[in-house]
Amino acid sequence: MLSRSYEDELFRKLYLLGSEETDGLIDEFCMRCHSPVGVYLKEIPPADGSKLSKIAKRGVFCDFCHTISGYEKIGNGTYELSPGIVKLGPFEESESPGHETAYSELHTKSEFCGICHNLYHPTNNIPLELTYTEWEEGPYAEEGIQCQDCHMRQSPGIPATGTTERPDYPGIAGAGGGKRPHLYTHYFIGGNTISQIQTDDGYTQMAIERLQAAATLEITPPTNVIAGTENTVKVKITNAGAGHYLPTGLTELRQMWLYIKITDDSGKVIYESGTLDNEGNIDQVSTIYHSVFADKDGNPTEKLWEIESPISDNRIPPKESATEEYLFTIPIGATLPLNVEATLKYRSAPQHLVDELFGKDKVVPLVIDMVTEKS
Ligand code: HEC
Ligand code: HEC
Ligand code: HEC
Ligand code: HEC
Repeated sequence: MLSRSYEDELFRKLYLLGSEETDGLIDEFCMRCHSPVGVYLKEIPPADGSKLSKIAKRGVFCDFCHTISGYEKIGNGTYELSPGIVKLGPFEESESPGHETAYSELHTKSEFCGICHNLYHPTNNIPLELTYTEWEEGPYAEEGIQCQDCHMRQSPGIPATGTTERPDYPGIAGAGGGKRPHLYTHYFIGGNTISQIQTDDGYTQMAIERLQAAATLEITPPTNVIAGTENTVKVKITNAGAGHYLPTGLTELRQMWLYIKITDDSGKVIYESGTLDNEGNIDQVSTIYHSVFADKDGNPTEKLWEIESPISDNRIPPKESATEEYLFTIPIGATLPLNVEATLKYRSAPQHLVDELFGKDKVVPLVIDMVTEKS
């Protein structure tokens, strides 16, 4: 995703819409993180990228990250750069035939990621994305587990989350280098699958593996199962594997929700919630775990530049839980016992927004089943 941070179609479509609606006010701000070298070289504006050099279109790439030498404050892309022959990295003694090297403690710490993974509205300062802060105030920071320990230990088949092993990956970092006990992998996988509409190089599968190692479910089945009565089912969702809130990042777009189906013993559906309608919208009864912001008139908006105030945020902090309660009537004639099935689902963006940006019926964001539980 880092290498696509400029070319990513979802980003570009939303950014160009924002640029148009604000007369270019957002251009440089967005690009500080999405094409940092474009901003550094003063190739933005114009918003459409017509002045961008080839290198700037590569988004957040090797040489950019490995010449970050400091930062002003956490968030909003306030990195300090030292471009040149010296590349900064995590090894205290490292020799390369291609360039000089220097040790950088910053690269081994979450603060490095926090430079871009905390986002505040540039004028009203409302926190829009706080992945770094969510981590910093949570249990993983206390244990000393950095972003890098989960996101730079993943490889195909090894999601490296809070619920799975995060093994070492020994090897040689570059030609002529010695064998290292661990090389930090550079897949940088999150939950994003929508941008895989552009290519699929196995990253979708790794995103699915990551999401499937993020949460657990626990069903409390109905207790008084008599036909004709009202009853409740509870489902507890625990953020067991993410180092920050679940979901995190661009959470006015990301959606996580529960699908629940209660059937009687003959398989007849008694209750269902969390389904998608014909338009791809999640039904009104289910809770969507995300953040909601309001525009100047108090109406919900998914457009970052329109945000004037927060409305709600029901996401789940690391190692914490949320419980959903479902009230339903057991119809007369139902064959007992009842079966309950719950699935936690995730998608990178709501269908209506994707329709608005890409055109109707052009792109369907993948809905990922994170975890299923039955009782
Ligand atoms: C988002 C910023 C970022 C980008 C982009 C990036 N790196 Fe890294 N790289 C890091 C960080 C951070 C570490 C150190 C992780 C640690 O030690 O905790 C690292 C470590 C390394 C190392 C040391 C060996 C290892 O893997 O641990 C090498 C070599 C390296 N990067 C080369 C590259 C190359 C080549 C590219 C482009 C293909 C690249 N990096 C892109 C951030 C980045
Ligand atoms: C220069 C700013 C910058 C830095 C530094 C940076 N990132 Fe990012 N990162 C981005 C941007 C921008 C994107 C989003 C690209 C997109 O979706 O278009 C991103 C995307 C990601 C994603 C993919 C998210 C998804 O939805 O799938 C992960 C994971 C990630 N970064 C982890 C890290 C980690 C870990 C570090 C620190 C080692 C780091 N990043 C440092 C800017 C940065
Ligand atoms: C304990 C392991 C762990 C740590 C530590 C961790 N993450 Fe994550 N991260 C996950 C898991 C699991 C997911 C997938 C679930 C999700 O999307 O929230 C994820 C997802 C993400 C995403 C994608 C969110 C989305 O849905 O678009 C980003 C961006 C991200 N992490 C950045 C970071 C940054 C930055 C840090 C450090 C401040 C960090 N992570 C620390 C496990 C971790
Ligand atoms: C401080 C750095 C920063 C700035 C400034 C920033 N972004 Fe991002 N953006 C990110 C990071 C980090 C992610 C990845 C978060 C995640 O995956 O949840 C991201 C992800 C996105 C995505 C999701 C892409 C996808 O494929 O899912 C969109 C859209 C986006 N940004 C639009 C914008 C717009 C528009 C602006 C300007 C108003 C902007 N961003 C400014 C850091 C930034």
